Amino acid sequence: MTSNSAFEKFATDVDKGLGEYPKNLSSKYFYNAEGDKIFQDIMKMPEYYLTDCEFEIFEKQKAQILESIQTKGKFNLVELGAGDGLKTKILIQYFSDQNVEFEYFPIDISADVLNELKSDLEFRFPKLKVHPLNYEYFEALEKLNELDGSPKVLLFLGGNIGNFSNKMALDFYSQLNGILNDDDKIISGIDLKKNPHIILDAYNDKTGITRSFNMNLLKRMNTELGANFNLAQFEHYPTYDPKTGEARSYIISKVAQIVEIKTLRKSYEFKAWEAIHMEISKKYDLDQIQELAKRSGFKVLKNFQDEKRYFVDSLWLRVPQPPV
Ligand code: TRP
Repeated sequence: MTSNSAFEKFATDVDKGLGEYPKNLSSKYFYNAEGDKIFQDIMKMPEYYLTDCEFEIFEKQKAQILESIQTKGKFNLVELGAGDGLKTKILIQYFSDQNVEFEYFPIDISADVLNELKSDLEFRFPKLKVHPLNYEYFEALEKLNELDGSPKVLLFLGGNIGNFSNKMALDFYSQLNGILNDDDKIISGIDLKKNPHIILDAYNDKTGITRSFNMNLLKRMNTELGANFNLAQFEHYPTYDPKTGEARSYIISKVAQIVEIKTLRKSYEFKAWEAIHMEISKKYDLDQIQELAKRSGFKVLKNFQDEKRYFVDSLWLRVPQPPV
């Protein structure tokens, strides 16, 4: 956390979440420098199939992807939650090899990650124009309005959409629709429903990496907000519900205890076995994706899937909106 307002927002959100019943903390705060590192490790876990699937889709279908998004002149490639851009680099490499005219706008809440991404891209693709935007999604979306008039292709990869509930996903795409122009496109990486054991394993690795990822937020509150969470008195508990398609992550207080947060000058009471809800990761089927696109004013142009059909990169077109 660098800026004051970011610090205040973190503090306010923590206070709000721990004051609610059931208690909750936003998974967007997982991603500090330490969290970014742990997430890199998650993406390398054999159980975490999502990254490999999207890799495979991009590697094997990059030509078809380019064919479906290419415009006559230049386009702006905008990525929401770019992270280390590892998968996007496959597309960037291919587009560059094909002499496609485009500029890249990575958006991320982690400034660290963006700086690294920018220098890496500038080193690899000296000709590519990279414009990092260090904002949250919706702030960044406002900035999109200030771009030039070139058609936009928005990337929203890695199953990020899974972090939204049904209503949030619909709001999110509807809001995007309001900001985009006719003929702008979105590619969303969406994790699909599959054998529930496979899904649960991806969020419940035996090596404890996912556990550390969740616990890191308690650590972060200790160091940044002066909290006194005793990590040994909390347990990580992941679930998957095949009916709703929701993988959820909880941290459970193993004992009745009181946690103090110095900078907030407040204390929070935990009952024995009380849960803090940390994260939702929702899985879809192709019909639900179709429905979501339609209800938010988009049309599904194409679904790019991996061979196992675990994951989809769904390409949507903004359909012309009737005048109000
Ligand atoms: N939200 C991402 C996902 O659904 C990242 C993630 C992986 C994650 N494992 C997690 C977030 C555990 C919170 C808890 O895949």
